[in-house]
Amino acid sequence: MRITIIGSGYVGLVTGACLADAGNHVLCMDNDAAKVELLRGGGIPIYEPGLEQLVRDNSAAGRLAFTDDLKKSAAHGEVLFIAVPTPPDEDGAADVRHVLAAARAIAACMAEEKLVVNKSTAPVGTVHRAREVMAEELGRRGKEIKFSVVSNPEFLKEGAAVEDFMKPDRIIIGVDGEGEGGGGKARQVLEQLYAPFNRSRRRMLVMDVRSAELTKYAANAMLATKISFINEMAALAEILGADIEHVRQGIGADRRIGHHCIYPGCGYGGSCLPKDVQALRRTAAGHGYEARILAAVSDVNRAQKTLLAKKIAAHFNVDDGGRGEGWKKLRFALWGLAFKPNTDDVREAPAIALARHLLARGAQVQAHDPAANANAKKILGDGLRLYDDPYAALSGCDALLVLTEWKVFHNPDVKRMASLMRGRAVFDGRNMYRPAMFSAAGFTCHGIGRPA
Ligand SMILES: NC(=O)c1ccc[n+]([C@@H]2O[C@H](COP(=O)([O-])OP(=O)(O)OC[C@H]3O[C@@H](n4cnc5c(N)ncnc54)[C@H](O)[C@@H]3O)[C@@H](O)[C@H]2O)c1
Repeated sequence: MRITIIGSGYVGLVTGACLADAGNHVLCMDNDAAKVELLRGGGIPIYEPGLEQLVRDNSAAGRLAFTDDLKKSAAHGEVLFIAVPTPPDEDGAADVRHVLAAARAIAACMAEEKLVVNKSTAPVGTVHRAREVMAEELGRRGKEIKFSVVSNPEFLKEGAAVEDFMKPDRIIIGVDGEGEGGGGKARQVLEQLYAPFNRSRRRMLVMDVRSAELTKYAANAMLATKISFINEMAALAEILGADIEHVRQGIGADRRIGHHCIYPGCGYGGSCLPKDVQALRRTAAGHGYEARILAAVSDVNRAQKTLLAKKIAAHFNVDDGGRGEGWKKLRFALWGLAFKPNTDDVREAPAIALARHLLARGAQVQAHDPAANANAKKILGDGLRLYDDPYAALSGCDALLVLTEWKVFHNPDVKRMASLMRGRAVFDGRNMYRPAMFSAAGFTCHGIGRPA
């Protein structure tokens, strides 16, 4: 099939590369000309395991190409996926301008029937608005060309995006006329397109458009709720003298609860959970409904992101509000800048918030991330000293702060740490360590919801 992807970021590039790998002819479009140039030259703008090889192989086979020419890309695809950003506006609602602009742009230049598939996370009603925008644009051109717009929200996880796309838990399709036999031609086309990713068992769930749009938000809200719930339990564990790691294992063993997404830590980040919880809250408020659970989930997460800073201030007896000279004498090593391991994405990352907090107080921060150094520098500038080696970042530091659970951080050489650092404190924002593993070298390890 001839496929066009509009927006070639984490979702668009992975979708394009995986669909090309299934034998389709894919043209990935992006309005960032520098990104397109990089992709054309064999470079890859993001870190995502397995993606580089997939892009290289399918480009070499002539099934995957890149352009910044919207007209050309609109002409290419029988099926056009929209995978552009839906950032929060000033009220926290999802800004769907890019989605609607892409829909309008397709209608502005299409010359034959098109199936438009929205993969961007967008509030209930966006697909209907996209249809209106396309009809309006075709009307303006005086053309009567058939088109469909459907919803196909994406559930891939950064860090495992290729694997998630290739072996999805489910593929959600929102079409009109749901149920067996509903959805017409659009449904048939998508069933064929997704057949290679749907072989061992039926993973495709077909539903009406509004339900598909809400499913994406409900899924992210549920994941965020689990994380904030365990973080609230961690706060209680600290107050009550319990160890949240025992509690986590104890509740996770219940199959109704499960072990996924109940890791206590320094808060959830990334480009999806924070913005999607806020956007769903705004949608609810816009319809006169106060989403109380969502409000609590966001509040707990906001507090969680400041928890390590509070623990650091208490440990070093410096003023939490940032007044006083105490901070200026302190030097910190930060391991992990990405919002989670196996990605270079630092959007809303707890590590970025903490680094900014420490730098604002005059502390020195020396950081290392296996993939996200460059992206962190774009946000925090030269104030943050970056190192390619995690141990080099420890030099002369009063404390190590671990913010992303990259595998390589799991078993640090504690003797080497002691020889490089001037202080003996570890703040483990991901509960990766047993505090006892540091005690022989004289370190105190502060985790989340467990005794130091
Ligand atoms: N990142 C994830 O893990 C993930 C997972 C599921 C869903 N989503 C959703 O998918 C959408 C895209 O997210 P992402 O993380 O891939 O974003 P991204 O920022 O990585 O990529 C978006 C790309 O679209 C391009 N773009 C912006 N406006 C455009 C336009 N008008 N025409 C063409 N290109 C344009 C940008 O240059 C960028 O390369 C969002 O709605 C997001 O919420 C993201």
